Amino acid sequence: MVNIKKIGILTRDCAGVNAAIRAIVRTACAYDMEIVGIMRGYEGLINNEIIPLSSRSVSGIINLGGTILKTSRSKTFCSSEGRAQAAKNIRANGIDGLIVVGGNGSLTGAHLLAVEHNIPVIGVPTTIDNDINGVDNAIGADTAINVAIDALDKIRDTAVSLERIFVVEVMGRNCGYIASKVALAGGCEEVLLPERDFNMDNLCEDIEKASKKGKVSWIIITAEGKAKALDIVQTIKEKTGFDIRAVVLGHIQRGGRPTAFDRVLAAYYGNFAVELFRKGEINKCMRLEKNNTMVSFPLEEAIKPKNIEVEKCYGLIKILAG
Ligand code: F6P
Repeated sequence: MVNIKKIGILTRDCAGVNAAIRAIVRTACAYDMEIVGIMRGYEGLINNEIIPLSSRSVSGIINLGGTILKTSRSKTFCSSEGRAQAAKNIRANGIDGLIVVGGNGSLTGAHLLAVEHNIPVIGVPTTIDNDINGVDNAIGADTAINVAIDALDKIRDTAVSLERIFVVEVMGRNCGYIASKVALAGGCEEVLLPERDFNMDNLCEDIEKASKKGKVSWIIITAEGKAKALDIVQTIKEKTGFDIRAVVLGHIQRGGRPTAFDRVLAAYYGNFAVELFRKGEINKCMRLEKNNTMVSFPLEEAIKPKNIEVEKCYGLIKILAG
């Protein structure tokens, strides 16, 4: 069984990451384990940017967006030489196990360090896209939806007042999780999702028919992985002649104060990551199940494509659109 005495934390950014760092650090400190932070993600690991962490280093961060450890997208880590250097630095710093707080890309990186260099790793599912296989809720997704809903409610004020159509593009990479939830929670008329076929002619016909019956204000959500808001706006304008605007919500969805839901999730996940190392479990991801039960499963499962069920949500959006 591996004996983990010194843990390294490496993160991506989104709301709830700092709360997860806090939970990891405080749990490790409670067990008298040594804990260090890797600055700027895998790039920082390759450059040996490693700092000591203590219970005090994570004071007052539970409510902060982003990551106090900063992050980056590392091209160097994509090469086997880069990963070899990363593994070398982990060993040189006496780090026995690495906790990676991030989404698909970060967890894939952790998996590679495990299989190529025998580094013990634990993945903490964290991404606004909520596309980690085997995990219902990744840290950050709830905040992203709430941020988008807040923006959408403001857009609706103008949509209703001016009797205008808006197309709002949300993030999510190739996953329609944010888009489907935002469309349902925001009372939107239509949503374009990577998981579903979509017919633009039908949408334009629906808009024209509804307009004849007096419905002139629409909010249409598009997932960035399906279609760009500006393109949809252009097409609808050309086909119907209606006044219509595009809004791209972009990175505001990844920032901001984490919701209580994401902070609670971060507490459970962060604590469990350390507990797994203590039990000698390595190369695992995790999920929260009923009755607040934490479950671990192989990291290699977590990085497989996730099948997102959107049909039920889409059906509701259409019934409730009126
Ligand atoms: O994976 C999180 C995410 O915010 C996606 O929703 C989005 O497509 C991507 O990252 C944006 O990446 P970047 O911040 O590098 O532009």
